[in-house]
Amino acid sequence: MAIPEQLQQGLSLPAIAAPMFLASGPQLVIECCKSGVLGTFPALNQRTSEGFEEWLNEITTTLADYEEATGTKAAPYGVNLVAHKSNQRLEADLALCIKYKVPLIITSLGVVPSLIEQVQAYGGKVFHDVTTIKFAQKAASAGVDGLILVCAGAGGHAGDINPFAFVNEARQFFDKTIVLSGCISRGNDIAAAQIMGADMAYMGTRFLGTQESMVRNDYKMMLVDSAAKDIVYTPAISGVPASFIRQSLVDAGYDPNDKTPKATIDFGDELDIDQKVSSETSKQEAKAWRDIWSAGQGVGDIQDLPIVADLIKQIKLEYKSVC
Ligand SMILES: Cc1cc2nc3c(=O)[nH]c(=O)nc-3n(C[C@H](O)[C@H](O)[C@H](O)COP(=O)(O)O)c2cc1C
Repeated sequence: MAIPEQLQQGLSLPAIAAPMFLASGPQLVIECCKSGVLGTFPALNQRTSEGFEEWLNEITTTLADYEEATGTKAAPYGVNLVAHKSNQRLEADLALCIKYKVPLIITSLGVVPSLIEQVQAYGGKVFHDVTTIKFAQKAASAGVDGLILVCAGAGGHAGDINPFAFVNEARQFFDKTIVLSGCISRGNDIAAAQIMGADMAYMGTRFLGTQESMVRNDYKMMLVDSAAKDIVYTPAISGVPASFIRQSLVDAGYDPNDKTPKATIDFGDELDIDQKVSSETSKQEAKAWRDIWSAGQGVGDIQDLPIVADLIKQIKLEYKSVC
């Protein structure tokens, strides 16, 4: 059980601000890293690989300037790469991660052994996002440095396994870094994750409700107004089960009770937002993440929309008070 040494520098909380489609960008990442939390974003939040490189450049230069000006080490940052065959940018985006020596790569929806080798070759680490033991075993065999256990109640493409059960089973075959995900909002939740046997906590929804998150204001207000009972876990929108806020499903014309799985899964479609969309299916998928709003069951703990620095200050106080 450990956090890799390369990821410990500048880290003052064992926590990762999870990558969120359309929500995490340079400001969120930079503010997390300055406050000692590992900040991440999905490469696909930029519409092109050129745009993705601009963000890598902005993050690395801003953090280097910050370190020089303050003499304080910032926490490392990470990039989420969707390793699904429908993501046609995977190769180009990976090449940029290698060029910038991105400290942490988070893969989701597919394990690619050659990707793991290339990242480890420059000293980077690969954590893989899983919702089942079967996929956790597959990723462990492929040589990942960490497993992110996405448990019941999480935001985005959540799992349905209880966190105690998931950590205990994963620990039977994996002794590297385990990151726990799902409804972690407070410092005491992070401490609880460590007591359960995880090394780090993965926090999405709590960082969605911050000033730096890129989602619209009415989305943020809906986070403040929602609680666990308002989260619908359904494969109807993405083809794989994900958590959405009930009111946003209703507002977008969906019946929240109709959980018929969407027939196709195409993450290439995520690039079509605001661009010319090729088919009705693409239109629906793009709409899914722009107009239908995801959040985890931990949303009930969001009562304010702080700046990241203040949120992390508060989380650190909570963490210290129970440790
Ligand atoms: C709005 C939203 C978008 C997300 N987009 C992604 C994504 O693009 N890639 C990914 O690996 N996970 C994504 N996730 C999942 C998070 O990375 C993380 O696993 C999850 O938010 C943790 O659960 P929590 O929201 O209860 O903290 C998303 C989650 C949310 C809420």
